[in-house]
Amino acid sequence: MFRQKMEKAAKKRQSNIILALDLAPASSRVLLSQSLKILDLVHPALCAVKLNRQAVLPLGLFDGVRKIITKAHDLGLPTIMDAKINDIGNTNRAIAQYYFKAGFGAVIASPFIGWDEGLQPVFDVAQKMKRGVILLVYMSHKGAVEGFGQMVQDHATRQLVPQYRIFAEKALKWNADGAVVGATYPDKIREVYSVLKEKVPIYSPGVGAQGGDVHASMKAGSSYLIVGRAIVDSRNPAKTAESIRNAAWRNLQVRTEKNE
Ligand code: XMP
Repeated sequence: MFRQKMEKAAKKRQSNIILALDLAPASSRVLLSQSLKILDLVHPALCAVKLNRQAVLPLGLFDGVRKIITKAHDLGLPTIMDAKINDIGNTNRAIAQYYFKAGFGAVIASPFIGWDEGLQPVFDVAQKMKRGVILLVYMSHKGAVEGFGQMVQDHATRQLVPQYRIFAEKALKWNADGAVVGATYPDKIREVYSVLKEKVPIYSPGVGAQGGDVHASMKAGSSYLIVGRAIVDSRNPAKTAESIRNAAWRNLQVRTEKNE
């Protein structure tokens, strides 16, 4: 459901850019009004909005965050909670339920915790509430190599393989709505794409502020780009968002035509 919702929004809006609405710490009142203002400015260039705990902590899930979700939905933008869910199943279920109840269309979760008594309850609750689960596969920051990039012995096959490769296969097996691979690692995107093809879309954060490149990650296989500071901190957020959108969308069209 969520996967289709994203595809529909992207097609209708001719954009595969997800805004990471991460603002520098300020009072709740200022954060809320800035968030709504940025959405007003940049929404024509977006296909979705992503929030994380940086917003939930000061704004409150059922207070300021709900207002942002409502605004995004009124503008036709699906919403993603970058919760990186990472606990035992019992608390994961409650966490996911709260985020979905507040209105989020999908949550991001960490596959490090496994399925049984880990992520299964999150996928169950998502299915029940017709929402999505997006899995981390290879994060965008430098230290990602220490966890996601390690060579590990596969629990099932006993083969030595990179951790992210196992996570990519889990994204397929668990029927995740998306897999996060940093735009900062086009080679990893390419490798994960060779596993997922078009069955599970790749979401890539890290464009701009973290050094990721729009063309390189789109060419490697990303379906959506998650962009925060490059837009939010720009002097002209609307213009910046528009130019990132144009570059990314052109690349996606070329790939779609090639695949047809
Ligand atoms: P910037 O400002 O660097 O913000 O464009 C990036 C946004 O994406 C989030 N982020 C990630 N989220 N997996 C995720 O689920 C990742 O590998 C990852 N890397 C960055 C970050 O929290 C911010 O909102």
